[in-house]
Amino acid sequence: QYLNKRSSKKGQVNTFISKDSPKVVHCFDMEDIGSKAVYCRCWKSKKFPLCDGSHAAHNEQTGDNVGPLIIKKKDP
Ligand code: FES
Repeated sequence: QYLNKRSSKKGQVNTFISKDSPKVVHCFDMEDIGSKAVYCRCWKSKKFPLCDGSHAAHNEQTGDNVGPLIIKKKDP
């Protein structure tokens, strides 16, 4: 049943990012992030895995409410 769901084309979240790859994974070292990083969770960003604001158009078109993951260092 799991494989049937995986091979289904219906309801895919990822519509264009690295579709030739069996799994899209990104890894960053904490030390390289700097003071703030904004990561896409809607899978519509042209700068994926970074957010480029495309979630706003997606939300407008679909009524969805997705947004980015923001990682930042605490203010001293
Ligand atoms: Fe995807 Fe902002 S573009 S969360």
